[in-house]
Amino acid sequence: MAEVVFEPRNIVVTGGCGFIGSNFVRWVARNHPEVHVTVLDKLTYAGNPANIAGLPESQVELVVGDICDADLLDEVVPGHDAIVHYAAESHNDNSIADPEPFVQTNVVGTYRLLQAARRYGIRYHHISTDEVYGDLALDEPRRFEPDDPYRPSSPYSSTKASSDLLVRAWARTYGLAATISNCSNNYGPYQHVEKFIPRQVTNILCGIRPKLYGTGENVRDWIHTEDHSRAVWDILTKGRIGETYLIGADGERSNIDVLREILSLMGEPQDAFDWVRDRPGHDRRYAIDPTKLERELGWRPVHTDFAEGLAQTIEWYRTHESWWRPAKEATERRYAEQGQ
Ligand SMILES: NC(=O)c1ccc[n+]([C@@H]2O[C@H](COP(=O)([O-])OP(=O)(O)OC[C@H]3O[C@@H](n4cnc5c(N)ncnc54)[C@H](O)[C@@H]3O)[C@@H](O)[C@H]2O)c1
Repeated sequence: MAEVVFEPRNIVVTGGCGFIGSNFVRWVARNHPEVHVTVLDKLTYAGNPANIAGLPESQVELVVGDICDADLLDEVVPGHDAIVHYAAESHNDNSIADPEPFVQTNVVGTYRLLQAARRYGIRYHHISTDEVYGDLALDEPRRFEPDDPYRPSSPYSSTKASSDLLVRAWARTYGLAATISNCSNNYGPYQHVEKFIPRQVTNILCGIRPKLYGTGENVRDWIHTEDHSRAVWDILTKGRIGETYLIGADGERSNIDVLREILSLMGEPQDAFDWVRDRPGHDRRYAIDPTKLERELGWRPVHTDFAEGLAQTIEWYRTHESWWRPAKEATERRYAEQGQ
């Protein structure tokens, strides 16, 4: 197992008020009280300061601002020893309706952060997705590996792929101390109600029938967001510079199986949902081979019982209605306009 090679003391976490970023900030606050975190977040519709509320003010500070703002980065970045870059426009359906903010934040924003990391000579870790690799056939025996070619399908995944390529080039051309991780689909608390699992759960809590795209056969590889956080920490502190690591927890499941599991955990009949129009270009299957991360850094997922993780997630939404309720109506209205 690799030794710790970098001991961060003062990190910038972009997008730390979003779903996965805020879970990472909470994980660092719990497990590394010696590390100060500056969250840089624009607070778009997907960012919520409540996601990091209650953490010690001496350890976690929020700066509200845009990663595309180079002058702001010159104010925020000096004095930090690493940038962990989560901020993104992250929802595929939104990227199909309006790709512009995806190109701005995901491509231009990443470029500005890379330049800032270069200017101040600091470590940079880039959060990305398995969707950059395109999709696999449902019956294909293989999984994604780090050196697979990029074949993104949607405006979202193509902007993430573009940002990954910028990072690779900055590491090679400018010697930036960068690493990249591409993770599979996350679930857990604080995920926006537009995403698959929270949408189904909150629909049931609201008395609305869940909605399933297409045939429901599409396969996603689910990982609990806490396992993702620990993997990112391991890569930041022990990963080899210039490398790409894939993060996944052997969690392949079809969308219809996940929905049936939710229905069953919430005491609903198995057919209590509606079929809706499929997303254009909908990827069939994602599957991650995490061998490199496991072998080199000794990482293993802890949340290996999906039904248990899902039950805890459902319970979180049941007990945090005031967190998700304000976004629910507008989200469902947007889906209804798209026939979904
Ligand atoms: N959700 C998943 O399953 C998944 C899987 C793999 C990788 N990822 C990647 O993880 C990262 C976080 O995803 P998420 O699901 O938590 O997203 P999210 O949409 O929940 O959060 C994104 C956060 O970024 C902030 N943000 C957006 N534009 C910004 C800008 N220009 N400047 C500063 N802040 C800005 C938002 O306010 C929000 O807080 C993304 O890079 C995403 O591509 C997500």
